[in-house]
Amino acid sequence: MIDPKLRVLIPAQRIQERIREMGEQISRDYPTGDLQFICILKGACFFLTDLARAMKRDVFVDFMGISTYGGRKTSSGAVRVTKDLDISLEGVDVLVVEDIVDSGITLSYLMRILEQRKPRSLRVAALLDKPERRQRPVPVTYVGFQIPDQFVVGFGLDYAERYRNLDDICVLEAESAASA
Ligand code: IMP
Ligand code: MG
Repeated sequence: MIDPKLRVLIPAQRIQERIREMGEQISRDYPTGDLQFICILKGACFFLTDLARAMKRDVFVDFMGISTYGGRKTSSGAVRVTKDLDISLEGVDVLVVEDIVDSGITLSYLMRILEQRKPRSLRVAALLDKPERRQRPVPVTYVGFQIPDQFVVGFGLDYAERYRNLDDICVLEAESAASA
């Protein structure tokens, strides 16, 4: 897809290499027992499918829908569960798979909900992290890439639902982003 507003920040090949490393590390960290991945829709499903296939062990997969953004580019603070899990987390090792941690508002809310379900352990894997933007402290155990405070799209990340299916992670240049 060629779009003059997009500048490649992390090329597809680099993303795939990093996800392979993450899969190997997470596999080492959970050598035994059931491991439940929770994919946060919609953005993380691209990361989830590659991460799950990079794992050296069996994993369970379920999905949760959370809405914070609409078409806008900053978190409103209002977080809503739009699709809940099909399974119980009690006594289970859980890894939340997220596309990006920005303000941390979404994830801190989500972690509170999930902790109430009494998992055996609860950790987060995020493909991207923008540490400069953090407003709420959230522990992210596995981070693919730390990136500067720029709005990115591709590899699952959207701007007003567009650009999710790009292979690369790209910066959406300011001209088109300014109206949000
Ligand atoms: P937070 O609650 O501010 O941490 O925002 C988390 C959610 O905001 C992510 O799951 C994304 O859906 C969205 N988001 C944050 N930063 C970006 C970005 O740079 N591009 C696209 N979506 C983003
Ligand atoms: Mg998201």
